[in-house]
Amino acid sequence: MANDQQRPKSHGAEHAELEGSHEAYRYRPARQPADQLAFRPVCRFKLNGHFTAAREVLDLSPTGHAIVPSERPSLRPGQVVDDLRLEHCNNEIWAGSAEVVYADKDSERIGLRFISGQLNMRSLSFRDELIEQRLVKSLYQVRSDERLLPAEWRAGISTTRHLLESAKAIMEEMERGEPSENWSRSARRKRELCEMVYHKWWPVYRDQLLAMDSLSQQLPKALRETAMDYAAQELMPLLRECPMHSRAYDKPLGYAGDYVLMLQGNTEELAGETLYGCLLHHMVQNFELGKAIVARCYTASDAVAQTLRKDRTTRIVSLASGPAIELRTLLENIPPLEQPVELILVDVDEQAIQHAYDSLSRAIQKREDGHLVRLSCLNFSISQIMTPVDEDERELVHDVLENADLIYSMGLFDYLNRPVAVRLLRNLYSLLAPEGRLFIGNLKRARDCSWAMDYAVHWHLAYRTEADMIDLGTRMRESEASIEVTEDKTGYCMFLDVRRP
Ligand SMILES: C[S@@+](CC[C@H](N)C(=O)[O-])C[C@H]1O[C@@H](n2cnc3c(N)ncnc32)[C@H](O)[C@@H]1O
Repeated sequence: MANDQQRPKSHGAEHAELEGSHEAYRYRPARQPADQLAFRPVCRFKLNGHFTAAREVLDLSPTGHAIVPSERPSLRPGQVVDDLRLEHCNNEIWAGSAEVVYADKDSERIGLRFISGQLNMRSLSFRDELIEQRLVKSLYQVRSDERLLPAEWRAGISTTRHLLESAKAIMEEMERGEPSENWSRSARRKRELCEMVYHKWWPVYRDQLLAMDSLSQQLPKALRETAMDYAAQELMPLLRECPMHSRAYDKPLGYAGDYVLMLQGNTEELAGETLYGCLLHHMVQNFELGKAIVARCYTASDAVAQTLRKDRTTRIVSLASGPAIELRTLLENIPPLEQPVELILVDVDEQAIQHAYDSLSRAIQKREDGHLVRLSCLNFSISQIMTPVDEDERELVHDVLENADLIYSMGLFDYLNRPVAVRLLRNLYSLLAPEGRLFIGNLKRARDCSWAMDYAVHWHLAYRTEADMIDLGTRMRESEASIEVTEDKTGYCMFLDVRRP
């Protein structure tokens, strides 16, 4: 056996030198302060043959608890209380005998040690957090929804759910019958499988969405929010597998309609992780507004192409540019440029700008006339354009945006109320060069999807009609401007087309 001298140097602490506690020598399980629970437990016990009034519990552990003393001192250390009951929300959570461990005259607490079994702290926490808080709240919600929301409307939500469930069951069956490498790696196969089901299922589901749209319009305004919460709670579990529904509902950037959603709406390859998720993604892309967010890019792209035909350098501003898909498509497809162009992207989201900058830079590099395109980006919000906080911001807005030949925007005015929209239009108009053009997109309401957007995913848009668009233009009070409204090819995205003389 090796002696001390031969022992290798230890790589850990020396056991003999480890120290114990210097303050609380005796181990006691951690106590849970009662005020950390949502509902405070109370305690009663028999004294002189009668139960005391409920005493507030101050803290608890598996082996004992502390209570508030009564006015008349009646408990002494060492005394055994035979019939003690602990209650939480009118439920008995522990019963047995306990010994008084401290009850000083001046103390603000009396300590009792359980001597007939332990208190299950986990059950207490389940009861407090899950049962009394969550379950009771949701049971109350069920009853209150039942009372407030019309039975016919709730039945409609159940039918909507059943239709989603039936599509999910079929897609899952398909997934089991199709080797995953066949569909998950082939954009074409995904689309093919989804199309097979969509073709039969969508007309029925669509009718159901139209029915929900009509039923919901009969709800009193005061009930709309309750109804939206109810619809989301019932439908989101079945819509979550869709990348677009889940992102719109979760709003990771704080608002629906971010640049990733626009990419998902425009992508060739369906992005659900399951075939059912892909079916829902396919459905969103085929909603009237799903088709409009693709089609409006071509309309905006045409407006950009027309501006490029000027026989001088042009400045084109995309406001709330997002992924700037229309500019990428344009740069990939237009014939060689004859004049230089400056493309200016403005968006509040830095990630959106980064994505658009990278994608447009690649497209510019591939063009032989790429040196004629200057790309600049402004990570600004419209509020900085309308109300710059200081002189620096004001100057920046003017330097970057002034003298624009075209300022266009899509997917922004759909979120602005009328006063803000008019104010922004006025600001933008003042930044136009002579003969400059504002081209501002706004979606119309579409009955096959706007209901689900509002009620299930809480993606609320300021839909407008043609008359609303003209009204916005008129309220700019630019008497010399020419104002028209045009549409994309789906008819669901209108553009307010304002030209400066
Ligand atoms: C629905 S997307 C539209 C993107 C792009 N125009 C399109 O049609 O594909 C809306 C964009 O507006 C941007 N946005 C939202 N609020 C904004 C604000 N207050 N100022 C500037 N951009 C904003 C978002 O970051 C997002 O990229």
